[in-house]
Amino acid sequence: MSLLPLGSWRADRLLAARLLAALCVLPVLASCAVTEPVRAVPARPGAPAAHPTTTVARTPTPTPSEPSNATPSPALTTAVTPAPSSSKPGARSTPSPTTNAAAQATTRPAPARPGGTDCAKAACVALTFDDGPGPHTATLLDSLDANGATVTFFLRGDHAEEHPALVRRMAKAGHEVGSHTYSHPELTRLDAAQQRSQIERGVQAITDAGVTPTLFRPPYGAYDATTKRYAGAPLVLWGVDTRDWKTRSTETTVTTVLNEAHAGSIVLMHDTHPTTVAAVPRIVAGLRERGYTLVRVSDMVGDPAAGTVITHGQHPA
Ligand code: NI
Repeated sequence: MSLLPLGSWRADRLLAARLLAALCVLPVLASCAVTEPVRAVPARPGAPAAHPTTTVARTPTPTPSEPSNATPSPALTTAVTPAPSSSKPGARSTPSPTTNAAAQATTRPAPARPGGTDCAKAACVALTFDDGPGPHTATLLDSLDANGATVTFFLRGDHAEEHPALVRRMAKAGHEVGSHTYSHPELTRLDAAQQRSQIERGVQAITDAGVTPTLFRPPYGAYDATTKRYAGAPLVLWGVDTRDWKTRSTETTVTTVLNEAHAGSIVLMHDTHPTTVAAVPRIVAGLRERGYTLVRVSDMVGDPAAGTVITHGQHPA
């Protein structure tokens, strides 16, 4: 990432951005969450993807995010190089209006998706939705289509079995699909064989619905060495916890995201709640007003090795 030559204004900005990046990898995520976002550099649709280098830092695990007595585990933050995947029609490696149009052939016309966004230059935020697909997921997909926003879903295998068409619709619309086990147990309470079964059945159910999941999120953010061994994909946690399952408040969900998201944030929500689905248009508009580009998790963290734990993505620097 060469930004030379630097004028003094540019240097000040660079210094500020580096200070912010340094803050965000310290085990004091709160200082990161309340910091003013680095102003986004507008994404250049045709720009080559200058991929971020790997950064790894110890961070505290996010607070428990779901209705459970789960005990969070220590986590690593990792951001690494993106890589294209065949399951993403709007792949960033070939950003073009034609590609995006093709990806949306089965959906309503929508604004261009942020394929090709370089999160080392743009301030990216990844919205993620857990526990679906469910009765409110189609409404969310309509809303995302209308707003031209691309997100990441972490699906329960049993719910994918109930709604296979929604799983395919997610992928066709350019969203990223990850697995969230088969039936949402707290994995750290299971023995190794049970963990492996939950993970593998979840992946199989989503695959049977027509989409191969490329990421994994352990329920409640609870994982151990066994989870990492059998995950078969990066473990994606989060940095912004909306606690939408608890508040069931559209207003609070909107406010929490807009107050806490910063460059590189992975935001946890649940499309199982209509209050959350109702919050999404305001979240999308509010984040864009603040200069953020909405991307899928892998757009921001790339293609880390299976078992790698991720809570945060790339900062501009
Ligand atoms: Ni969940």
